[in-house]
Amino acid sequence: MSRYAVFGNPIAHSKSPLIHRAFAEQLGDSLSYEARLAPADDFAGGWAEFVVEGGLGANVTMPFKEQAYRLVDVLSPRAQRSCAVNTLLLGKNGQVYGDTTDGVGLVRDLERIQAPLAGARILVLGAGGAVRGVLEPLLAKQPVALIIANRTAAKASGLAADFADLAVDGTSLSGGSFEEIEGHFDLVINGTSASLGGELPPLPQALFTPQALAYDMMYSAEPTVFMRWAADRGARSEDGLGMLVEQAAESYFLWRHKRPDTAPVALMLRQLLM
Ligand code: ATR
Repeated sequence: MSRYAVFGNPIAHSKSPLIHRAFAEQLGDSLSYEARLAPADDFAGGWAEFVVEGGLGANVTMPFKEQAYRLVDVLSPRAQRSCAVNTLLLGKNGQVYGDTTDGVGLVRDLERIQAPLAGARILVLGAGGAVRGVLEPLLAKQPVALIIANRTAAKASGLAADFADLAVDGTSLSGGSFEEIEGHFDLVINGTSASLGGELPPLPQALFTPQALAYDMMYSAEPTVFMRWAADRGARSEDGLGMLVEQAAESYFLWRHKRPDTAPVALMLRQLLM
């Protein structure tokens, strides 16, 4: 049987086995998918062991996305831009191919919920690995403005500079501090890890246009503090559960060349969370 896995540390909480097993069942695909713990400083060792056992591919989650990026033989262009790998695929010749599906997962989920993208004013909060991973596909949607705001302003302006060549056709791309945020936005994406600690970045009160969407890349059983803050100010809000399922579907496609239907799997996960 074809073997796949997700690597993380910790890993027990991962929803990826549930998601991929549901995809396989839906598609009548015979495969196994397990959660594997690797030592925090030795992702390479964990992956090598899995390959010896017959592993064909893997997802990679915290804290291994950068270690996986350094390990692979061939990087997809989007993984190269992201400096991160969340999907590994063993080639027939034994070469390891690395890709990242987080960004495409986010944009697919945004399209599913009809988020304003083309011609929109988009604000992205945070400038860590999670945000780096989603900038390329967001810019490809040709927003009129994409502003990155971060606690450490230099990281936001650095990211804007790194992606400046992808901001074409009238997209204005810039980065700075939360205090420098100006104007109203059609889409605000929270890519900080602040939600994890129940915290909220210091944001201007008047942030949203009338039809705005607030999207938190985190998800939880209850709406996140960012989602509640946005809803109190009139914005529609959504969490990142759909992104999780969409990035998994893209990984599945890379391995199996089949596209699962994500809607029933997202629904199943949501019901499990409640
Ligand atoms: P990830 O891979 O999840 O992006 P990361 O690279 O550590 O993790 O980045 C975490 C992001 O959340 C950063 O943008 C961080 O801001 P700094 O660059 O200033 O550290 C942001 N962040 C974390 N906790 C935060 C908080 N309490 N308030 C605002 N931003 C926070």
